Amino acid sequence: VTEPDLKGRHVVVSAGGTREPLDPVRFLGNRSSGKQGYALARTAAARGARVTLLAANTGLPDPAGVDVVQVGTAVQLREAVLKAVTDADAVVMAAAVADFRPETYATGKIKKKDGQDPDPIVLVRNPDILAEISTARARPGQVIVGFAAETDDVMANGRKKLERKGCDLLVVNEVGERKTFGSEENEAVVLGADGSETPVPHGPKEALAETVWDLVARRLG
Ligand code: PMT
Repeated sequence: VTEPDLKGRHVVVSAGGTREPLDPVRFLGNRSSGKQGYALARTAAARGARVTLLAANTGLPDPAGVDVVQVGTAVQLREAVLKAVTDADAVVMAAAVADFRPETYATGKIKKKDGQDPDPIVLVRNPDILAEISTARARPGQVIVGFAAETDDVMANGRKKLERKGCDLLVVNEVGERKTFGSEENEAVVLGADGSETPVPHGPKEALAETVWDLVARRLG
């Protein structure tokens, strides 16, 4: 039996991967399936929370009893996050957000030009949503959780990221072409801004989600 320890709480979860359009047919994207974020949304709902799930390009069915908002790009995700966090007790950013987007959007399909090299794609920075909501908290006592998707020096990069983003908890997981993205399972270490480290062994994404909510519920008191 699941303990309804998030009853009366509003939690916001982001899931999936943003897509940054180049032209009407192409985008820059990433390998996130949304499964980890959906597992967070389902488990929070089972623990009694009101859940807003901000879903970026997942193609997954809406979890029962969860408010789902569909977004496409990082800029759209930022708008949706800023709107949802105003009355949120906790926010978990499991979405894989593009750090950069193409500077220009071609309104017509970009064409090959005979005998010419392709034009370079110029990128500009996207807003860092997690850092923004961690710095300017919408509510006192709001618990903010980020994820760190790393391929190298996983823990060292995770610790630096926790510092840089200013969130309360950071779930550090290793990713690769066939690692974590799209799979049913994950393993991670959850770093706390208080110096705590909670290892979560390899297992279903739901198990990691439950550990995240345990840590959030403890901080909400
Ligand atoms: O979706 P799945 O297939 O189940 O895979 C799960 C996952 C690998 C996508 C997930 O576990 C995960 O690691 N999500 C975070 C992916 C990511 O963007 O990590 P990052 O290290 O690049 O970003 C760090 C944090 O900042 C993340 O919480 C991210 O949501 C946030 N961010 C990043 C860039 C940006 N411009 N704004 C942000 O808010």
